[in-house]
Amino acid sequence: MNALHRDLERLVDRVEREDASHVQADPYRQHFHLMPPVGWMNDPNGLCRCGEWYHVFYQYGPFDATGGVKLWGHYRSRDLLRWEKAPAMLYPDQTWNLHGVYSGSALIEGGVMYLYYTGNVKHPGAHDYIKTGRGHNTALAVSRDGVTAESNELLMTNQDYPEGLSCHVRDPKVWRENGRYYMVQGARTMEDRGEILLFASDDKRRWSHINTLTTPGVFGYMWECPDLFEIAGQRVLACSPQGVSQQGMRFQNVYTCGYFPLYGDFCGAYSLGAFAELDCGFDFYAPQTFLDGDRRLMLGWMGMPDAEYENPTVSNGWQHCATVMCEVVWRDGRLLRRPVAELEQLRGERCVPEDAEIFDLEYVPQGDGAMTIRGSAVIEWRQGELILRYETGGAGRTMRRTKVDTVRNLRVLADASSLEIFVNEGETVLSSRYYPPVAARGVCFHGEGKAKLWKMHALSMTEMS
Ligand code: FRU
Repeated sequence: MNALHRDLERLVDRVEREDASHVQADPYRQHFHLMPPVGWMNDPNGLCRCGEWYHVFYQYGPFDATGGVKLWGHYRSRDLLRWEKAPAMLYPDQTWNLHGVYSGSALIEGGVMYLYYTGNVKHPGAHDYIKTGRGHNTALAVSRDGVTAESNELLMTNQDYPEGLSCHVRDPKVWRENGRYYMVQGARTMEDRGEILLFASDDKRRWSHINTLTTPGVFGYMWECPDLFEIAGQRVLACSPQGVSQQGMRFQNVYTCGYFPLYGDFCGAYSLGAFAELDCGFDFYAPQTFLDGDRRLMLGWMGMPDAEYENPTVSNGWQHCATVMCEVVWRDGRLLRRPVAELEQLRGERCVPEDAEIFDLEYVPQGDGAMTIRGSAVIEWRQGELILRYETGGAGRTMRRTKVDTVRNLRVLADASSLEIFVNEGETVLSSRYYPPVAARGVCFHGEGKAKLWKMHALSMTEMS
């Protein structure tokens, strides 16, 4: 352990202790979502199940609720319900990650965690930090318990990436398939085209670039946080593209997030099918999937980079959270996303709509209709459209519309400061933060339908012992 690591560890510990009571007093702290203990959270990283533990690492900025230098925060759980807050795992303490331990993933082999990440370095000088001045290094930390890194090594620098790229190459997602290791990374070319680099390795350390995955026409300037996996026989390339302009009801957020079905050979000749958005709300970005036995789970960041929202939690010393843990399934040519079954164990007593505050709602409407949640969030479905609209409480968010031919069923998870709306078993999902007046309660239905409502208990959260 070097002195920088040691001192950062102490500082994180100190700021978490000093700021805890201020942060914990915020009525907008979530009950059943993972959040930063203090400060800032963005992407989930290194998601995995290793032995009996699920691990959620995440982009953590403990010193600044609006961002700051990133390290890997860490939560772990055996059942996705009782969580332990573990010490931060990766610190910016090496020459190749000094200005941030950026996003990455976990490969599990023989009970060992191989944590691949991007080390961010900003060189001094007059740079734009896009085309010059930034090192985006690929690195590997190895750990048996997710708590202590036994090694941390630099694997690739910008010189090792193909020609024609800007400095933005990041977010390695690694998996093993047919006896080889594969890695995808997001990239921005010098011509501002977003693409995904595919690397292969036989030993987890020496990587060769073997393919580049992109669309025939330019689709945004940068593709962040790629994920490539097979589900029910279909290969899917998920990523978070930046620079895609709004087209009617599509791409309403500053950056988008979704997937392409990939046809053919991802290592050779391939084509990408139509891009589908993974979420139509205000706050969903940089999700990552991992295999848990035979189900594929997905966790996203319930936030949006560079959006002009002013989340009121910032003045209480923290910002952002993760979505609920979801399972993804492939049905009729599309990915569906639904909360994992475990979450139903957080359902407490049934409650009447007038009392609802932090709840899980199942609703089967008859025809067009609407509901108002806690006074100022309106979900409305009519004429082939579903709308989420905030009268107040949006902190800058106003309205999102999406095409849904028929709303057969809705599930709404409402936490202290978020709504996640799952339409038709997760065919369409809208994830958004929402800040109603603290005393506001109740769901008011407009139109006919059958509702089942449960109060939701909080996740249990303890310090790792
Ligand atoms: C996505 C992202 C990643 C990067 C990380 C830095 O939100 O920009 O591409 O690794 O955040 O925090």
